[in-house]
Amino acid sequence: MSNRIPIIAGNWKMNKTASEAEALVREIAPAAADTRAETVVCPPFLCIPAAVAAARGTQIKVGAQDLFWKESGAYTGQIAPGMLADAGVTHVIIGHSERRGRFGVAEEGFTPEVLALFGESDRTVNLKVHAALKHGLVPIVCCGETLDERRAGRTDEVVAGQIERGLAGLSAEQAGGLVVAYEPVWAIGTGETCAAEEADRVCGVVRATVGRLYGAAAAEAVRVQYGGSVKPDNAEDLLSRPNIDGALVGGASLKASDFNAILRAAS
Ligand code: PGA
Repeated sequence: MSNRIPIIAGNWKMNKTASEAEALVREIAPAAADTRAETVVCPPFLCIPAAVAAARGTQIKVGAQDLFWKESGAYTGQIAPGMLADAGVTHVIIGHSERRGRFGVAEEGFTPEVLALFGESDRTVNLKVHAALKHGLVPIVCCGETLDERRAGRTDEVVAGQIERGLAGLSAEQAGGLVVAYEPVWAIGTGETCAAEEADRVCGVVRATVGRLYGAAAAEAVRVQYGGSVKPDNAEDLLSRPNIDGALVGGASLKASDFNAILRAAS
């Protein structure tokens, strides 16, 4: 049994207005007060102030879904880490597969040229991880293989490579303080969950990779979430596994009753 505190994060993606965000935070506050898990919600940038205000005095922390690595300047459309910290954000998702242009479900019009606009790479993930840490934000670093990569037997190699390049240049202490989310791309938003045993195995690969790069203490401390179609009915099975320290929840984080049930499953 590890001493790691589980962390359940809701990735709201491109959903919710400010008033909806406020309402949802209020609805999950009682379950967040009751669970053993650290509870984080990651609304769209525009809802962050409303979510932070609603979360004040509760056990809920507010994260962002992305950030830029520069402090300020001529970077149209970007959000700087200092702006997030100033707004009361504590966590930030970095390198989500949807930001890398890796989608589990083929979408009409998403040609290679359009997908390239999403633009995230292991190199930009690395810049963002360093920038987040500099501002005291906890990175939730995402990794995971596509269906083609899994079928080709490349899952472990893909995930380890993303971790190695994405976390390059950290201290052991910084690596141990991270949250890493293992999210198989084919299981995101598809209703397709990775079997709990396999999810646990790959989360173990993440931990072993952190151990190889940053030592045993970092591997023991780093929290590894599973993400991809986590729902109330599979949460307990996933969260009871030794290498899974929480969940990054998409669709089921948009409805208080579902998210609350997942928070309960983490206890
Ligand atoms: P999902 O999304 O729970 O809707 O599959 C998870 C994620 O993308 O973080």
